[in-house]
Amino acid sequence: MKLTMHDCLELRDDITRELFIRKTDDSVTITAENPGSSLIGVIPAIPAEKLGSETFRQTYGTKYALYGGAMANGISSVQMVVAMGKAGFMASFGSGGLPLEQVRAAIREIRAELGDKPFLVNLLNSPFEPEAEENMVALFLEEGVRAIEASAYLTITRNLVLYRVSGLSRGAGGKVQIGRRVIAKVSRKEIALRFLAPPPANLVDRLLSEGKITAEQAELARYVPMADDITMEADSGGHTDYRPLVGILPSVLALRDAYQEKFGYMEPVRIGAAGGIGTPAAAAAAFMMGAAYVVTGSVNQACVESGTSAYTRELLANAAAADVTRAPAGDMFEMGVTVQVLKRGTMFAMRAQKLYDLYTRYDSIAEIPSAEREKIEKTIFRTDLESVWRECIQFFSVRDPAQLERGRKSEKDRMALIFRWYLGRASRWSVQGEKEREMDYQIWCGPSMGAFNEWTKGTELERAENRSVSDVALRLLNGAAGLTRLRIAELFGVEIAAGTAGKFMPRGLV
Ligand SMILES: Cc1cc2nc3c(=O)[nH]c(=O)nc-3n(C[C@H](O)[C@H](O)[C@H](O)COP(=O)(O)O)c2cc1C
Repeated sequence: MKLTMHDCLELRDDITRELFIRKTDDSVTITAENPGSSLIGVIPAIPAEKLGSETFRQTYGTKYALYGGAMANGISSVQMVVAMGKAGFMASFGSGGLPLEQVRAAIREIRAELGDKPFLVNLLNSPFEPEAEENMVALFLEEGVRAIEASAYLTITRNLVLYRVSGLSRGAGGKVQIGRRVIAKVSRKEIALRFLAPPPANLVDRLLSEGKITAEQAELARYVPMADDITMEADSGGHTDYRPLVGILPSVLALRDAYQEKFGYMEPVRIGAAGGIGTPAAAAAAFMMGAAYVVTGSVNQACVESGTSAYTRELLANAAAADVTRAPAGDMFEMGVTVQVLKRGTMFAMRAQKLYDLYTRYDSIAEIPSAEREKIEKTIFRTDLESVWRECIQFFSVRDPAQLERGRKSEKDRMALIFRWYLGRASRWSVQGEKEREMDYQIWCGPSMGAFNEWTKGTELERAENRSVSDVALRLLNGAAGLTRLRIAELFGVEIAAGTAGKFMPRGLV
């Protein structure tokens, strides 16, 4: 039983209207009215605001179950967070790498624009700079930040517990009130389970003895999970474990169910999906697998509100799905951790890898053969390594004197700091649009960017200057709703015409 192309398109695009499938002897058609005895199926209206979890939307006060993930160095900018918040979404301010006072100013600006509308601020775990996390949490408490996106955590820290537990209170009927929401973004099951459990008792006790939380809050901490929501991050831009969403999401959903049974939380932890959400099909698949909400990242970086340079946005808008690759990560360079970056239009990945290879091969700058050293000074650093070290001294004596101390004691550590100078600069050059350094831009990007570009090719969204974050988000959800309706129709035994699934441009914001 084949539906006509016209009927398929109506099913797909008219998402807010309930439609009926009617079968007669020789045809199957769609009608707006219930056809009575010839009815074989009902396709529900699926407005975008019905996708995902109702409690997610209620908890945060959003209209839609989608948020924009943090992008460090203010790439997920004040403008991006405000645009998403105003349109019924939510976005996480990219606090990573920014001075504390700049984050404070951003929070105030966002709040002035958004009023009561929701937003998130990113809390990045920095195991090598514990003070940075402590100061950030203190800032959140001072500024009354009500919800954070916590990422890069390997274990639960004292500061994270402080943020969470100091927001607990007892409400009417003894019910625990959660005043500070935590969305944890993780890419591994072992980490997810730490956020599914209540805050670790030893850290709660420590905070109580330090006088940072009350006895009542310490007691209430036993009844709430560490996070309200866990975003499972599949193959994404930036730090990633390159896992497929189809593998990790169902597995963590099952884990959540087991923890819910064990702890009987009043509000079960919701599980969302990030990584690869660049097309309606990807969003529809995530919801279909049980994601409570979806998270976008790479696609937002190419939008007009993004805090990166116009040149970088243009490069991103021209990327194909295969134009991404691994490169050494600046923050965990010595450990061999990688980030996913854009490959096309920049030589950053190759150059950073070259530095990492030298770092693993030699124990000091002095050991590097002089021809090799001259080559990297000329092509990568464009200055001599002594000057770079002097800049490192200036930078780290303010930012992190302990690292500098290590670099002074160990030649190998000094080499790492010098090489990390390039990695850090390369991100900044991209954000600031540094002229003459285009080939060194470090641009974090996942395959979702190319998928998005392919989907929007030939439409007004092909051009970076026509992309705005809330419009993109709504088109993704409207498209996901349309595709879901097609799949429902299939359940009634009708065949969907070829040509309805991939290339289509759903409505956005009007
Ligand atoms: C340029 C860029 C910077 C990012 N910076 C951060 C960050 O500072 N903190 C964080 O939690 N996630 C960061 N992410 C990850 C995003 O928040 C989001 O989880 C991810 O991009 C989703 O996957 P996708 O890239 O496939 O859309 C970054 C991603 C990109 C593309």
